[in-house]
Amino acid sequence: MNLPVSARIKDNGILEIGGCDAAELAAEFGTPLYVIDESTVVKKCRQYNDSLKKHYPDSLVIFACKAFCAAGILKLVHEQGLGVDVSTSGELYTALKGSCDTNKLFFHGNNKSVSEIAFGIKSGVGTFIADNTDEIRMISDEALRQGSEVKVMLRINPGVEAHTHDYIRTGMTDSKFGISKEDALKAVSLLKSLKGLEFAGLHSHIGSQIFEKQSFCAEIDVLAELASQIKKSLGLDCASLDLGGGIGIRYTSQDEDPCIEDFVECMAVRLKENCRRHKLKEPRLILEPGRSIIAEAGVTLYEAGAVKEIPGIRKYVLVDGGMADNPRPILYQAKYEAVVAGKASQKPQETYTIAGKACESGDILIKDIKLPKIERGDIIAVLCTGAYNYSMASNYNRLPRPAVVAVRDGRPRLIVKRETNEDLARNDL
Ligand code: LLP
Repeated sequence: MNLPVSARIKDNGILEIGGCDAAELAAEFGTPLYVIDESTVVKKCRQYNDSLKKHYPDSLVIFACKAFCAAGILKLVHEQGLGVDVSTSGELYTALKGSCDTNKLFFHGNNKSVSEIAFGIKSGVGTFIADNTDEIRMISDEALRQGSEVKVMLRINPGVEAHTHDYIRTGMTDSKFGISKEDALKAVSLLKSLKGLEFAGLHSHIGSQIFEKQSFCAEIDVLAELASQIKKSLGLDCASLDLGGGIGIRYTSQDEDPCIEDFVECMAVRLKENCRRHKLKEPRLILEPGRSIIAEAGVTLYEAGAVKEIPGIRKYVLVDGGMADNPRPILYQAKYEAVVAGKASQKPQETYTIAGKACESGDILIKDIKLPKIERGDIIAVLCTGAYNYSMASNYNRLPRPAVVAVRDGRPRLIVKRETNEDLARNDL
């Protein structure tokens, strides 16, 4: 079971996270409830920072905030020295609310609108990452309009196949993201020719929930080869190389447990080797993890409703959330584990399928998990829900999005309020 670092199961079966009793959190803040263990977030940020400091000091870690975009979370990662990758004006607005350092903001997105670009430049975003040549022109136009000079990196599609779910692979040749490596030189040359832009380097992101270091090595080889061509043909240095995010995490005991330091070391070594081979000045190395910073910090608490048995087939326990607060099982067949808070030290006795309350048969959070006997009112804690749950939550069936509580040293801190029915109907005319 992959519990947050500060979590423990007491002898009496009570699940504690950040020194807070999970069932008491549920009683105080209601369910479903996203709980974020601050110590886990801090630990993960430090693992990235410390291993880069050791293996590649000229570097920066930026949090891919699509994994969890709320001002309270962005403030927390900012305090750990991380920058933030935003990909829409909504994410940018939230990062600004979270007091993030604009120099360390990177503006992604594969179809930025003129107004998003204008908002980014006006807010002083440190670096834009252009997805295509149209965007390079649009950023130049807007930079001129605002009389600014904007740092721009190019998103390259390296043609690397990462072994992960089809929907979260991004670096293969047939992808909507980035500029193909064949067209990269032309794109840099265009960037060089336009006013208001400074070429800041290359970026790529090959996918998410990746367990193989080899995929990152292949990505680095492609980017370094391109950096060398750019130097030779255009005389430009790639000041930074951004390798994107993607390191996987252990959702269930069947998954491997990737070690952040091993990945970082492997990337650093490969990049240095490439720089030696191509006689390149070592660029600043940027990594933009999302999932591996926040996933394991998150636990979602649900209250059990009816327990329903279909004799000889299945026993369902129905909970008060589901696909609206965690769409990953229905979207990616993602697997999760859970414990029953208050009974966490009891032996599992029965096999349950944990189903949500949305009007959809596929609204199943966990299929066939062995747990202690569950009764109505029990609090079920689903683990490793910190990434892409809150940020992908919907209001399907007009379910209000849950509150988010950050916990540390026995103190819960409400960082996102629960939505109300009024919130849901606020824009209805
Ligand atoms: N950088 C870029 C440009 C990205 O597109 C992403 C994620 C990241 C960094 C962070 O990747 P991570 O370290 O989190 O793997 N909704 C899916 C994941 C989509 C990832 C999209 N891009 C899921 O729930 O599995």
